[in-house]
Amino acid sequence: MIKLFQPWWKKRNSQPTAEVADGNIPKHVAIIMDGNGRWARRLGLPRIVGHRNGMKAVKRATIAADELGISILTLYAFSTENWKRPKDEVDFLMSLPQEFLALELDELIEKNVQVQMMGHTEDLPPHTFAAMQEAIERTKNNTGLILNFALNYGSRREITESVKKIAREVKDGTVAPEDITEEMISLNMLSSGLPDPDLLIRTSGELRLSNFMLWQAAYSELWFTDIYWPEFGRQQLYEAVAEYQRRTRRYGGLS
Ligand code: FPP
Repeated sequence: MIKLFQPWWKKRNSQPTAEVADGNIPKHVAIIMDGNGRWARRLGLPRIVGHRNGMKAVKRATIAADELGISILTLYAFSTENWKRPKDEVDFLMSLPQEFLALELDELIEKNVQVQMMGHTEDLPPHTFAAMQEAIERTKNNTGLILNFALNYGSRREITESVKKIAREVKDGTVAPEDITEEMISLNMLSSGLPDPDLLIRTSGELRLSNFMLWQAAYSELWFTDIYWPEFGRQQLYEAVAEYQRRTRRYGGLS
């Protein structure tokens, strides 16, 4: 059993860290990081303070995922719908990747983490795109945890674009309609090259997917927690993985 013993000075509450068994670690964990705004409001603070503390939770989740031996951690950092928020908040959210990477990239490199990005990245502000590109470039040969940021990601747009691409191939005569397969569709998704998430986590008590990995999450195990994203840490990731290990995945078949 991998059991994490936290020293007393790091313990924030008396809850024990969940026990995670050695095998059956989910390969790909995807997280809808929700509740930054409500966390801030509860403390009487501006929403952006919630987002900045959300960034700290990104670090905790990354360290815990690495420690557990998870191969891919996908984090929903900005959706195609988030542009509807006030400009100040959007600008702040778009500055966070740069801030996070300025603070953490060296440590990510040291931990052999490979940074990736998934989304409609052509719409990102140049400074956000450049910071991500630099991190991707500097970590591209790393072989450890893949830290995949979903930035300006929207599943319906992703599916629409994939359909358009395949339709063009059908029109060109390079693909016959009867040869279209699920694998071909997966390969045309923004997540191409990554396995589907085994475990999908959402914080803040909301029970929906919010346009996140709709195709890829067909057989993901879902885990919801009421806590807000800025409170998320090692304990919650261990709890989610321990619960995942108790589930039986049947993919529509029989166990
Ligand atoms: C949803 O909470 C959260 C977001 C839209 C942004 C998520 C971004 C982070 C956690 C920081 C990302 C950090 C990096 C390094 C990219 P909400 O604001 O909708 O919360 P609410 O529903 O309580 O208002």
